[in-house]
Amino acid sequence: RLARAGHVTYKQTHQAIYDRRNALSSAHPFSARVLGQGHAFLYRQGMVCIQTGDIVRISDVRSSDTVQLNLTAIIQPMLESAFAESSCFKLSLMYYSDGILAVYAEAESLTNSGHLFVISTTKDPGRVVKAFRIVTSSKLFVRHNSQYLYYGTHTGVGDDGHHKWEISGVSLDEQLPLIDSKRPLLFEDFHGTDIGSTVAFEIHNDYFYAVSNQGTFQVEEVDWTSFYHCVKFPLYNPVDVEMEKDKCVYRRQHVQGPIHDSWTDLSLQLSERTNEVMIVESRREWARASSRQSRTFYTSKFKVKPKCSSGESSPSKNASETFLLPENDLFVDVLDSTNKPNWMPTPLQHTSSRHPEFSLDVTSPRTFMLARTKFRAYNYSCTSFLDLVEDDRCCNDPSLPPCLRIRVGSRREASLNIPPLNSKGKGRADEAEPTFDDFTQYQNSPIRMWPPPASRCPCSKRLHNILNPPLASGPSHSRTVIGVLDERTLVYMVKPGRSYNPSDDSALGTVVVVDFTRPWKETDSTPTPLLHKTDAGNSVEDDGNASCWQWNLGQNRLCKTGMCH
Ligand SMILES: *[C@@H]1O[C@H](CO)[C@@H](O)[C@H](O)[C@H]1NC(C)=O
Ligand SMILES: *[C@@H]1O[C@H](CO)[C@@H](O)[C@H](O)[C@H]1NC(C)=O
Ligand SMILES: *[C@@H]1O[C@H](CO)[C@@H](O)[C@H](O)[C@H]1NC(C)=O
Ligand SMILES: *[C@@H]1O[C@H](CO)[C@@H](O)[C@H](O)[C@H]1NC(C)=O
Repeated sequence: RLARAGHVTYKQTHQAIYDRRNALSSAHPFSARVLGQGHAFLYRQGMVCIQTGDIVRISDVRSSDTVQLNLTAIIQPMLESAFAESSCFKLSLMYYSDGILAVYAEAESLTNSGHLFVISTTKDPGRVVKAFRIVTSSKLFVRHNSQYLYYGTHTGVGDDGHHKWEISGVSLDEQLPLIDSKRPLLFEDFHGTDIGSTVAFEIHNDYFYAVSNQGTFQVEEVDWTSFYHCVKFPLYNPVDVEMEKDKCVYRRQHVQGPIHDSWTDLSLQLSERTNEVMIVESRREWARASSRQSRTFYTSKFKVKPKCSSGESSPSKNASETFLLPENDLFVDVLDSTNKPNWMPTPLQHTSSRHPEFSLDVTSPRTFMLARTKFRAYNYSCTSFLDLVEDDRCCNDPSLPPCLRIRVGSRREASLNIPPLNSKGKGRADEAEPTFDDFTQYQNSPIRMWPPPASRCPCSKRLHNILNPPLASGPSHSRTVIGVLDERTLVYMVKPGRSYNPSDDSALGTVVVVDFTRPWKETDSTPTPLLHKTDAGNSVEDDGNASCWQWNLGQNRLCKTGMCH
């Protein structure tokens, strides 16, 4: 897009795309720095919003543009005049997109009810675009673009009497009013309450997308197949008849083994190649009920059925017609009318839909337990996963907590001259194992850890100091990490671990930015392909700035080994 608009050349953009994919999938960032301290942060579209008390600082990670807003000064007069509310309230950053920040203000005396303020940060910074009351805010989330804002709460009540997600929209642009916004949309057949683990909501291409990996609310005694539920509707018209749904996007067969739910991550990502929305789920499973757990990153196309025409016949009440059932399965005979089993034969799949953390030839891989894995992400476009782990084998300093390190694994389509992986296991007569419609072979890269141990060289030591900021509460052994990874940058905040007392909210955290893109100005002047940078690259100590590290080509002043990246 930048090249089309004439801002940079196609050569630069190609190199930039190549650089960042290569840098991310091989764990070779271009820079790392401490951005500042705060209580909470958001990161999206290259902009970091850091909140410290009343103040929110919105800065571009790739330039020095910064806007600072005093939220109390913006919100308090409005709360008092427009809503006649008390002046004691708590502020939470909800979402940032397209130069607009959504902030939720909750009165301290009245929890679970408050006001959402939509504040411009670019045109006329501090202008309140919209403000309205949210009656009950349980599980509140916000997604918006420059035209429409949607928020959801887990407060609806479905036909079955259980709580359901309710989604409401407002227009942020007077020229583009919502066609119908009277009532919130109730997500009736859509289960799961944990955003990022059992449900995900996103706005892409002027549609609102929602996915859930939970089949039903009840536990079915007999069940075979798990599905994703997908829901989509156009932003300008949030009404039931515009909702397109599909609750039968194949997910997995239960016979594939139990899932370690604490590791499940669910997201909706846009394919850079096709602009399609993909469901990306990472699951740690005990493969076919064995004792070995392994993590796999699954991708499926987000799919909805075309809208039902009103004349379509209602679902048949005849159970034996409604449910598809497996043949030759002992359990079919024990079903009765109260069961609502799900079954679907395993569909033909593409090999790209499953990316195992370790390839078959890795016999005893090093893994990190959940408590040491502080952040997890998968990037579909780079076919890479990135974990932020606490590595107790990195630096032998018992007085310090284990080092935070980035752990990256990726895979690529193997080129033709690479022998196919062990083809053992193909053609097993096991119905849970998918059959693939292609024969693409993949090569997993070795899992890489970054940065190298601090003892390696001065700039490794500096990197450790940047990635492991000291906690305000002293070198406590427990810390919380909240992170966001997009296609180019990892931004995370390190805070003291939860102590479950009110002081948790007032604890300051440090925001660290690890960037996988080369700064634009350098792009054209470095013809050396990055692939060889392990041989040529070196880091320099830029004027002794301890809170900032940048990878530099060919300058060797301090680190003789040049292996800091
Ligand atoms: C923000 O504004 C409020 C209300 O005007 C004021 O009391 C407070 O001191 C301001 N905060 C800062 C850090 O300037
Ligand atoms: C239900 O299906 C069974 C088997 O196909 C059939 O015999 C029966 O008549 C159907 N009942 C209804 C109410 O459609
Ligand atoms: C992965 O990359 C895509 C496109 O490059 C980006 O939009 C997305 O935010 C990234 N997602 C994660 C979880 O890293
Ligand atoms: C170090 O770099 C950071 C981030 O670029 C900057 O804010 C800070 O002022 C620099 N410190 C020194 C001593 O130059």
